[in-house]
Amino acid sequence: MIVGIASDHGGFETKQILMEHLKSQNYTVIDFGNTVNDSTDDYPDYVIPLARAVVEGKVNRGIAICGSGVGASIAVNKVKGVRAALVHDNFAAHQGVEDDDMNILCMGGRIIGAETALELASTFLRAEFSKANRHVRRLKKVKGLEDSFGIVPESKKKHKSK
Ligand code: RB5
Repeated sequence: MIVGIASDHGGFETKQILMEHLKSQNYTVIDFGNTVNDSTDDYPDYVIPLARAVVEGKVNRGIAICGSGVGASIAVNKVKGVRAALVHDNFAAHQGVEDDDMNILCMGGRIIGAETALELASTFLRAEFSKANRHVRRLKKVKGLEDSFGIVPESKKKHKSK
């Protein structure tokens, strides 16, 4: 499996530890940066190229890390075809894949320790989408939202329906 990984300075140390660990577990790891710990860098510059690689099939799964994991998850979910979540517990790390076909795991390097990040990544990478009918049906509904470019709330519509 090819795993893509990306972080800003808030997730840099976690990313470096995670990369070495995953390589030792025989995963092929592609680093989308940042490759140096730069306190002025911006997470979209690294996590968006990772997100593109995931939807283009250049990597099988992605791991995006920032300080809290929030910015990374908001950013990557803007890329059509990404199904990412901020996950800090083991249950969601596998169920997010099994039920929701999550393809990018987001974590907060300033919130969890390296050992927890390794465990979550390992759980995420071992999990497989169940392909159960009910989950496929739900995913189709999610994809429908994506295809229609999101839902415009009635209050924001220029011409309100009567
Ligand atoms: C960077 O200081 C920090 O804001 C960023 O890593 C992340 O936590 C954003 O969600």
